[in-house]
Formats: sequence, structure tokens, C-alpha cells
Amino acid sequence: MQPKIVVLATGGTIAGWASSASSNVDYRAGELSIAAILRTVPGTTLHGYQLESEQIAQLDSKDMNWTVLTSLALRVDELIASSDVHAVVITHGTDTLEETAFFLHLVCAPSKLVVLTCAMRPANSYSPDGPSNLADAIAIAGQPSLSGVLVTCAGRIHSAVDVQKDHPYRLDAFGSGEAGCVGFVEEGRVRFVYVPTVASPAVAHQFREKLRAATTSRQWPKIEILVSVTAASGFCVDALVAQGVDGLVIAGTGNGTIHHCLESALVRAQNLGVQVRVTTRCSSGRVIPATAGKFQHTEGLNAIKARIALVLQLLCR
Ligand code: SIN
Repeated sequence: MQPKIVVLATGGTIAGWASSASSNVDYRAGELSIAAILRTVPGTTLHGYQLESEQIAQLDSKDMNWTVLTSLALRVDELIASSDVHAVVITHGTDTLEETAFFLHLVCAPSKLVVLTCAMRPANSYSPDGPSNLADAIAIAGQPSLSGVLVTCAGRIHSAVDVQKDHPYRLDAFGSGEAGCVGFVEEGRVRFVYVPTVASPAVAHQFREKLRAATTSRQWPKIEILVSVTAASGFCVDALVAQGVDGLVIAGTGNGTIHHCLESALVRAQNLGVQVRVTTRCSSGRVIPATAGKFQHTEGLNAIKARIALVLQLLCR
């Protein structure tokens, strides 16, 4: 029997439908089924694999939530463990794709490839990019002896750790910052520049055990992101602490510095048991900790990914 590539669909613009083919902004994401999307990808691109698909969700990814992420991660884990599955492809909206990719990286640490893809134009656009992105994802998924979570869009391949949506409209909407992309898909051929590392399988196993237990959203740690800006205050911090926030990720100025008014409030919050993590609001680079600081840094993660990591860390407390 041919090994399988299983496509899990979650919605997004790749499944989007516009009222007119000339409109690439007025459309509804998450309208088309994965069966309909797959009909737009020519069979010649299947590289000898049998293709199966499942509709996990049908969302505009701005509305992604822990329940869908958990179902997705647990299904990915089951499929990866199955001997007849070669790899998994996931169709997803571009807006929170980097969060889902990073969540799956930490929670699944897959021993096979999991490739997320997307589109910046709805399926009925004059020039939809979904079919070629999906064909590229299937080509990547068909590669032998590789593992980990990757993202592909517009012919480039990114790691789950470094990928970031950095443009709201362009087809090539993702970058990998200073790390650069992992590789390229050119005419259906996959070319890797480097092979990214996979997360710890033992830690991922612990996360999945906790996810299975966290069935109600009330059990999920409440982590918010704040930005240090000109004339910042501690108002938001105090309000969030009063509401029972569990953790705060701060996108600090420059090398992770924080306005003194915000910083005082964060010290108060930390003394009350709130977890505080600091990163930079700069769009690339990482905080280089100078001396022993007041707060823990995020080991190079941006605020959005640091929030995901902190949610999982607190879930396992
Ligand atoms: C979404 O993220 O679901 C909508 C936007 C997109 O996919 O580009």
C-alpha cells in the first residue's frame, strides 16, 4: 500500500470565498471544504503518495482557540504515530499560522514532517495562491527521512520557531528574520538550506498529557502581551492582576528595556506570583541580557511565541 500524506484543514483564506474574483480583501475565510480545495491541486503533484484529508475546523485563523489547537495537536500526534502515514500537511489561515506552527512544534515534536500552508488570496480570486502553496506543501511532505514542523508560503520554507507573518497583503507574506528561510520549492523540487531542529519529544509528551486534561478553557493559563511605549503606565498591569492574570509577556524597547512606570507595576505583579517574561518589540534580533535583570527573558522568542511557550509551561505546573 502507498504511504499516506494526510491533509488536515482548519480554514483560512486558502478556503476563502470572495463575492467577486477581483476582490482580494472582501471575502470570508474558511468557506470551502478541504475536498473542494484538493480538487484544485493536480494529481501529478502527489509524488506517489496516497492523499487523505480531514476537516478539523473551518475558521478565520484570527479566531483560533485552545480547543481547536488541542484537537489539531492530538490528531497530528495520532497520525504521526501511525505506520502508514508518511507526513501531515495542514491548511491554515495566515494570520495566526506562526502560533499554530510553534504550538505544534512544542506539543508534537514530530518524528515525521508536519507542513503548514496557507494562502493570501481567496480560492476564487483571479490568481489564487492556495493551489500552488498546497502543491508545494505536499512536495515538502513527500521528502524522505525528515521531521519537524515547517511552514511553506510562496515557494519558501520556514521553521516553526522563526516563521513570522511580516506583510498583510503580499503573496510572500512570511519571513524568518535573521535565521533566514529553511529552503525553497522550485518547480515542485524541494531545496533545503538547512534542517531545523525538532523540539524535545519528552517535553512534548508532557504537554500532550496536560492538554488531554485541560478540557475546559477555564483551566488554560491567562497570559497577556503588553508593549513598552512612550509614556507607558502600569495601569494595564494592575488591571490585569486584579482580573487574575497568570503571566505577562512584555515586548520591551530595544534590548528589552521597559518604561520605569510599567516596570514598577511589573515588579509588583511578579511579587504577587504573576510570571513575567521580557522580549523586544524590535521586529528582528533577540534581547542580549546585560546583567542580572528583574525579569526572565524569552530566549530569543518574540512576544507571540513567548506567550505560547509560557501558556504551555504554566499548564504543566
Ligand atoms: C485567516 O488567517 O484565516 C485569514 C487570513 C488569511 O488566511 O490570509
